[in-house]
Amino acid sequence: MGVTEGLVIDLDDLVAKAHQADVLMLSHMRGHIVDMDALIALARTHNLLVIEDCAHTMGAKWGNTWSGRSGIIGCYSCQTYKHVNSGEGGLLICNDDEIMARAILLSGSYMTYGKHWAGPPPAAFDAIRLVTPNISDRMDNLRATILRPQLRQLESQCRAWNARYHVVDGILANVVGLTHIQRVPQEKFVASSYQFLLLDWPATAILDMVERCFVRGVELKWFGASDPVGFTSRYDSWTYAPSTPMPASDRVLQGIMDMRLPLTFSLEDCSMVARIISEEVALVFDINGLG
Ligand SMILES: Cc1ncc(COP(=O)(O)O)c(C=O)c1O
Repeated sequence: MGVTEGLVIDLDDLVAKAHQADVLMLSHMRGHIVDMDALIALARTHNLLVIEDCAHTMGAKWGNTWSGRSGIIGCYSCQTYKHVNSGEGGLLICNDDEIMARAILLSGSYMTYGKHWAGPPPAAFDAIRLVTPNISDRMDNLRATILRPQLRQLESQCRAWNARYHVVDGILANVVGLTHIQRVPQEKFVASSYQFLLLDWPATAILDMVERCFVRGVELKWFGASDPVGFTSRYDSWTYAPSTPMPASDRVLQGIMDMRLPLTFSLEDCSMVARIISEEVALVFDINGLG
């Protein structure tokens, strides 16, 4: 599915392709949340089950609804770079007894699912307990012990990320040559990272800008490189899954710049980082005559 200049799923593209699938795996990539009311309405019309990948939206909301509560399943990663961190691991939430029973059996319950405080009733397991394989992907007690105190701190952590976002955003919102990502009030995002676009910039100018920032200690990731670096893989990076070119999305991907907003950065650090980016963007924009 394509991506818009607002860095969310292209709903027109979703409508065009909806007949090809029963399930939509919706990734709220880098915490950008599409209009979930519109998306869920479209999913209902087209009989699509929505699974929300909330790896970047734990603690976020669309309107008054927590990210992960609009679809049939919400999945959260607890890998090192996420909003809670147990090194590896994750969890999912779901109100459907049958799906949850399957998930518990798949994760490997040693048939002790009856002891699960939040699990579905035993009847949900009866028909599937002997036909569902065990892929041993359990949330172990050690990880859960590490995660539970972090859940209590999640709200204040989210506030701290957003404070950093607003400092950076305040400086980068009006830089000539840089396309700022507009966000609507319903999107109660958690900005553990920051994105902007250098839309229609030549690759050489983008690389120059990245290098200039790097020399000044600011590391930016670019989604336009032909080879993914770190986490900058695109839909066409994964050659095991055939893909059809999406020119409008390619134009956006070609311009996406990305950086983390670690909580180890103070607000002053964030301000300095944003000032460096704004200076280098302005300079490279100018010397390349991109105006
Ligand atoms: C958007 C998104 N979805 C899913 C995942 C996968 O999470 P995990 O590594 O816990 O399986 C990641 C991991 O980086 C991610 O960034």
